[in-house]
Amino acid sequence: MSCLNCCKTAEVESPSYREALAESAKRRMSRGYITFKSLAAAVSLKTGSSKHRQINEQIKKYGEVKNDIKVFTYNQIAEATENFNSDNLLGEGGFGSVYKGYICDQHVAMKQLNRQGAQGTREFYAEVLMLSLVKHPNLVQLVGYCTEDEHRVLVYEYMAKGSLENHLLDLGEGKKPLDWHTRMKIAEGAARGLEYLHSSADPPVIYRDFKSSNILLDEDFNAKLSDFGLAKIAPNGQGTITSRVMGTFGYCAPEYASGGQLTTKSDVYSFGVVFLEIITGRRVIDTTRDIEEQNLIEWAQPLLKDKKQFSLIADPLLNGQFPAKGLFQALAVAAMCLQEDPEKRPDMDDVVTALAILSATKTDEKDGAGEAVKTGGHVESFRAAESFNKEEQRG
Ligand SMILES: Nc1ncnc2c1ncn2[C@@H]1O[C@H](COP(=O)(O)OP(=O)(O)OP(=O)(O)O)[C@@H](O)[C@H]1O
Ligand SMILES: [Mg+2]
Repeated sequence: MSCLNCCKTAEVESPSYREALAESAKRRMSRGYITFKSLAAAVSLKTGSSKHRQINEQIKKYGEVKNDIKVFTYNQIAEATENFNSDNLLGEGGFGSVYKGYICDQHVAMKQLNRQGAQGTREFYAEVLMLSLVKHPNLVQLVGYCTEDEHRVLVYEYMAKGSLENHLLDLGEGKKPLDWHTRMKIAEGAARGLEYLHSSADPPVIYRDFKSSNILLDEDFNAKLSDFGLAKIAPNGQGTITSRVMGTFGYCAPEYASGGQLTTKSDVYSFGVVFLEIITGRRVIDTTRDIEEQNLIEWAQPLLKDKKQFSLIADPLLNGQFPAKGLFQALAVAAMCLQEDPEKRPDMDDVVTALAILSATKTDEKDGAGEAVKTGGHVESFRAAESFNKEEQRG
C-alpha cells in the first residue's frame, strides 16, 4: 500500500503565524505552565478533518512541530493489525491494548485507548502533542494516530525487543538475562532521552512516568522512552509545578508523592529507581518478596552504605560478570539520583556523562570503569561519586 495514498500529513501554517503563536505560548509559559486541558477540550467536540486541523493548531501554539505525524482511518488500523488479531497482541497497559501492525511500509505498534473518560482523552492528546514537539534517537517516534468516531489509536515505530521490564523484571523461562554492558548501554540511552527532554527540547518537558515498562528496546537494545501521556511542559528556568500526583507508585520522587512538587529533579529520582532496578534485577515494589525486601529503595539503603555488601546488591543473574569498580560507580550514580533533597540530585547531563563512561567499559576490563573515571577526573558528575566514595571509606 502506498503511503502517499493512505495517509494524510499534518498541515503546516505560515512561519510568521507559527512564530506569533510560539511567542504567545512562551509568554504564557513565563507566567506558569501550560496544561493540556485546553487542547483536549478544544478538540474533543470536533469531528473529522476539523478535529485534525484543531489538533495541529493547538500543537503549534506550544512550539515547532518536529514530526510528520500521519492521520489514519479506523479501517487502515484494522487492516494493519489483521482486525486486532490476538496473534498480533504485544501487550496490555493502563491505556489499552498494544498490537503489532504493518502500515506505510513499516512495522508499527498500535495502542488502542480502551478507557472512557476525560483522563484517557487528555493522555491521548498529550501524547500526540508531546511527540509532535520532540525528536531524539532515544524517544520513541509517533508515526500517526486515529481519532475516527469514538476510536482513539496511537501508532508508534515498532520496537523489536519490547520493554526493559520484559528483559529485566519479567524474564520468561529460558530467556537470557541482560549482561552488564547491555544494562549500562540501556541506562545511558534512557538517560539521554531524559536529558534531551530537560535541556534541549523547546519547550522543556518533565516526563513524569519514567519506569522500566516505558523504556522500549530496538533490535540492538537501543533504549527509547515511550508514553508521554503524563508529561508536562516545564516552567521556564528551574521552577516547580504543583501537580496532582499521577506517575507510578514506587518510581515517584518523595517530594512529588507527598506534596505534588514536580520539577525535572523528580524525573532524576525516577531515573535513580530504574537504574537500581537495572543493577539489582529487582522490581521497585515486589510484594512476592519477604516484607523487608518488598521496597527496593528501603532494602538497598543500608547496603549502599557498606562497600563490603555491594556485591549483594548486584543482580544474581549477572553471575558475578561485572567490573567491580563499574558496579561501585553505578551504585554511586544511583545513590546521587535517589537523594531525598531534590536540589542535591544531579542534572541529567551529569548522569549521561557518568553513564557514557560506564557503558564504554567492557565487562572483562575488570577495573576499567575505575580507570576511566580517574582519567576523566574533570568530569563534573563524578565529583559527587568521588565524595560518595570518601564518605563510604570514612564510614
Ligand atoms: N512501540 C512499541 N513497540 C513494541 N512493543 C511495544 C511498543 N509500545 C508498547 N509495546 C508493548 O506493549 C506493552 C504495553 O505497553 P503500555 O505502554 O500500554 O503499558 P505499560 O507501559 O506496561 O503500562 P502503563 O500503562 O502503566 O504505561 C509494553 O510493555 C511493550 O511490551
Ligand atoms: Mg507504558
